[in-house]
Amino acid sequence: MEEKEFQALLQEKTSDVEEIIKQYLPKEDGYQKTVLEAMNYSLLAGGKRLRPLLMQEIFTTFGGRGRVVEPFMAAIEMIHTYSLVHDDLPAMDNDEYRRGRRTTWSVYGDAMGILAGDGLLNLAFETALQAFPLKEDLTELEDEQRIHLVAGRMQAAARALHVLAAKAGVGGMIGGQTADIEAEKKEDDSGEQISMEQLLFIHEHKTAALIQAAMMAGAILAGATEREVAAMEKCAYNIGIAFQIQDDILDVIGDSEELGKPVGSDMQNHKQTYVTLKGLEEAKADVKRLSEEAVDILRRTAGENLFLEQLILSLTNRRK
Ligand code: IPE
Ligand code: IPE
Ligand code: MG
Ligand code: MG
Ligand code: MG
Repeated sequence: MEEKEFQALLQEKTSDVEEIIKQYLPKEDGYQKTVLEAMNYSLLAGGKRLRPLLMQEIFTTFGGRGRVVEPFMAAIEMIHTYSLVHDDLPAMDNDEYRRGRRTTWSVYGDAMGILAGDGLLNLAFETALQAFPLKEDLTELEDEQRIHLVAGRMQAAARALHVLAAKAGVGGMIGGQTADIEAEKKEDDSGEQISMEQLLFIHEHKTAALIQAAMMAGAILAGATEREVAAMEKCAYNIGIAFQIQDDILDVIGDSEELGKPVGSDMQNHKQTYVTLKGLEEAKADVKRLSEEAVDILRRTAGENLFLEQLILSLTNRRK
């Protein structure tokens, strides 16, 4: 696909995702209005919407039909956004700029930043649960075939929900953020370098886990087999590690205007990153290698999706 054609398609698909997310935004009223405003402020700030986009593409590539994926798309973006809101807090990375605007805590205060993150996390699960068929759907069941169909759909939604919860939790993203913060402390306290193994643990959990959740849930909801879902977990591992390495690279050589967030945040926090461990050139080469492997796994497992392949490869030279 020509670059121009790809960019136009990407823009179109991203604004479709945006529309889906908007359908699930909370109304800003009541005594809790402030936290609702802070949640919408964070969600509506834009961002690449990569995770819901990947989820949708994987869903359709595996032959998924209908709208069951939509609440899950909104849910994963809510979880991702909450992780950013908390990541920026003074007690964590202490950043004041995100997605081209002031960070949530720096506009609404620390307490509201914490609560808005908590609110988004819970809203994510309330939203994903909307994928389950309503009682009314079930009482209208006419025949065996339909019962079977609805039962299958519910089972897939429950599995997808489990993946989402697990990959976002202490065994996933939160676990990675924990190790990330502790690694920073280690550097501060003793000047000790972390090992490559430790860094890969951090990258896998803080970043790849949510990308895995997106791609695995997309596959599960489309009715993919266990083997196919496991392949998507591996494929998303590669995409996720490459994505975080590129994020580390951009923290060094990016442009904060273009990125919509500060550069030099890692250095300021004395954070050891892929770049500090391996150097810029090797980091860049690894991003490319991991992304090509991801495309390879995808093609072998799910067949050809030229847009998705190009999307994965385009992340290797992304500037935001
Ligand atoms: C930023 O994620 C945090 C990382 C995992 C590196 P994105 O780069 O996807 O952020 P947005 O959603 O586009 O703002
Ligand atoms: C954050 O990693 C990953 C999350 C789970 C939020 P970073 O701290 O490097 O992300 P940025 O650079 O602030 O977006
Ligand atoms: Mg961080
Ligand atoms: Mg950060
Ligand atoms: Mg970063």
